[in-house]
Amino acid sequence: MDRIIVEGGVPLKGEVSVSGSKNAALPILMATVLTKEPVIVRNVPRVRDVFTSLQLLEGLGAQCRWLGDHDVEVHAAKITSHEAPYELVKTMRASFVVLGPLLARTGRARVSTPGGCAIGARPVNLHISGIRQLGARVQLRFGYVEAHGERLVGARMWLDAPSVGATQNIMMAAVMAKGRTLIENAAREPEVQDLAKMLNSMGARISGAGSHVIEIEGASHLHGTDHSVIPDRIEAGSLMAAAAITGGDVLIRNAPVDQLDSVIAKLREAAVQIENTAAGLRVQRGVALKPVELRTLPYPGFPTDLQAQLMALLSIGDGTSIITETIFENRFMHALELLRMGADIAMKGATAVIRGVPHLSGAPVMATDLRASVSLVIAGLAADDVTDVGRVYHLDRGYEALEQKLASLGARIERVKGTSVQP
Ligand code: UD1
Repeated sequence: MDRIIVEGGVPLKGEVSVSGSKNAALPILMATVLTKEPVIVRNVPRVRDVFTSLQLLEGLGAQCRWLGDHDVEVHAAKITSHEAPYELVKTMRASFVVLGPLLARTGRARVSTPGGCAIGARPVNLHISGIRQLGARVQLRFGYVEAHGERLVGARMWLDAPSVGATQNIMMAAVMAKGRTLIENAAREPEVQDLAKMLNSMGARISGAGSHVIEIEGASHLHGTDHSVIPDRIEAGSLMAAAAITGGDVLIRNAPVDQLDSVIAKLREAAVQIENTAAGLRVQRGVALKPVELRTLPYPGFPTDLQAQLMALLSIGDGTSIITETIFENRFMHALELLRMGADIAMKGATAVIRGVPHLSGAPVMATDLRASVSLVIAGLAADDVTDVGRVYHLDRGYEALEQKLASLGARIERVKGTSVQP
């Protein structure tokens, strides 16, 4: 297993670019099975979840090839399998969103249920209920969701929670259904909007993505397209936290500024200077961090995927910050590792009380999930001495070349290669 070794204390300085969004790329790649024609997806980050997605698509019979470093062509001329196997779905929950497009294209799909996750139960009931409401027959057998429906029929439905994955799955199932589908209380995340944009460029008729109600008028068939994925707002936010924790001065090129309002607002409240320039987002910090209160919420609220990074940052703030996690029930695992680095964090249920300390100190720590892993790297950038982050395969699922990007800003960071065995 690889580890990342960080020697803290260097203020980050320079310019860095944000990669394409992992969370936008994954459902977009799954959407390529909706057509027999080739689809080109550009600005795809080279991260493990993308490689897993391509493996999944190849298993269904699609041909995938890289056209350059970040452009992929997927050609699903023929679907030869209807199954997303447990071995892949268990490593990447987002595989579950292949259910909708596979069902829409072929009338059947057999997709492993993802099971639990380090950050919470993460059920898929809303995905299944939505697909049933489109007329599919769905049963759960042997750990797999088996769905059948030769001709899906549009329906009006309400999501109990604005789930990102359920909204995407249902949207893709409904694009070729007979008639109109209305998804009420839909997720508004930019990644949902990017998927709708891509589907519309394939001939789908989707309106309202980005609002609470998405309307889908069924189309008879979809064709190929050439779509460029949006930049990764979570990577941008992570880089902002890294710049801020070190008291650095970094220009983040390509940051999707409009999607970062809640994050920029909280960082400014914490006394981080942020300037939106023509060249990118300039993030600087010259004074002590002020404490803040924040609550994770569905978009456009503060993203749960940046909660861990902000906790690392606020752990060296001048005062007491409060973070409430409202999306996932067990998303404070990183706090336990931050404690080992000298942070002062008390947790009760969904709330963490972070009393700022003057310094963190380096320690061997362990990543427990994707965003937790980056928060430990961020903490290490500001800690005394050396932080040794283990289990970085979590980080590799979603961050492209993170060590190289941070090193280019002056960080003393390196990857130590280990065996490829994962527990
Ligand atoms: C996506 C993101 C993930 C992010 C999350 C919330 C991808 C690949 N992943 O995950 O990084 O943290 O959005 O912004 O885009 N829920 C149910 N039933 C369901 C589905 C969800 O109760 O059928 C609940 C979940 O347990 C959770 C909440 O809804 O409490 C939000 O989850 P959801 O938006 O579905 O997250 P994902 O799409 O899995």
